[in-house]
Amino acid sequence: MIAQNWLCEKCGNIYLGPFPPQNCPSCGADRDCFKQENEFRFPQGEIEHVITTCWKISYGLYMVSSFDGDNINGQICNAFMQITSDPPRFALGINHKNLTHEYIEKSGSFAVSILGKEDQKIVRRFGYRSGREFDKFKGVPIFRERTGCPILKDALGYIECTIIKEMQVDAGTHSIFVGDVVGGKTLKDQEPMTYAYYHKTKHS
Ligand SMILES: Cc1cc2nc3c(=O)[nH]c(=O)nc-3n(C[C@H](O)[C@H](O)[C@H](O)COP(=O)(O)O)c2cc1C
Repeated sequence: MIAQNWLCEKCGNIYLGPFPPQNCPSCGADRDCFKQENEFRFPQGEIEHVITTCWKISYGLYMVSSFDGDNINGQICNAFMQITSDPPRFALGINHKNLTHEYIEKSGSFAVSILGKEDQKIVRRFGYRSGREFDKFKGVPIFRERTGCPILKDALGYIECTIIKEMQVDAGTHSIFVGDVVGGKTLKDQEPMTYAYYHKTKHS
């Protein structure tokens, strides 16, 4: 039996379970006061636990970049993974609102700079403000390879992809881009940054 959301119409409390409770754990109202909700909602306070649990999933952390004519931009991304090895193909989750999303659609390509454990500064620069507000690459050493997307000189390595338009998925707030690898190289043999490590050390 799948758990459902039950809304207490007396106090607004959401109860999660296969059936409504005998009495509301918050206000004590009778079972009759509960109405089944159609959409799934997390009970209060639970979403925070889910988010911190997600930090334990072993993603890497990357600077994903693209361009539109002479303009370049990039953002931080953890939603990046290899899908197939033959041919080498990757998937990337990017918010529709991001400037990087716009540039990836325009250029049809993206580059992924792999960050190291010391790259907190890069995460702060590329991960919290949009390229619509300021030039994130100003003063940051880069080079450009096969796709023309900017790549961080100080990255541990990079992967460049061209997107496969017919495989793009609208996943709500984000698009999932699927890309064929057209280039890549290891630049430094150091420990990569992980999402979990970043969250553990970001305030230190
Ligand atoms: C640790 C971290 C992980 C992130 N992961 C993603 C991600 O996977 N996908 C995404 O679209 N945005 C992600 N972001 C948010 C973007 O980096 C952020 O919204 C950025 O400012 C977008 O910039 P743009 O508008 O210049 O493209 C992440 C941010 C941080 C700090």
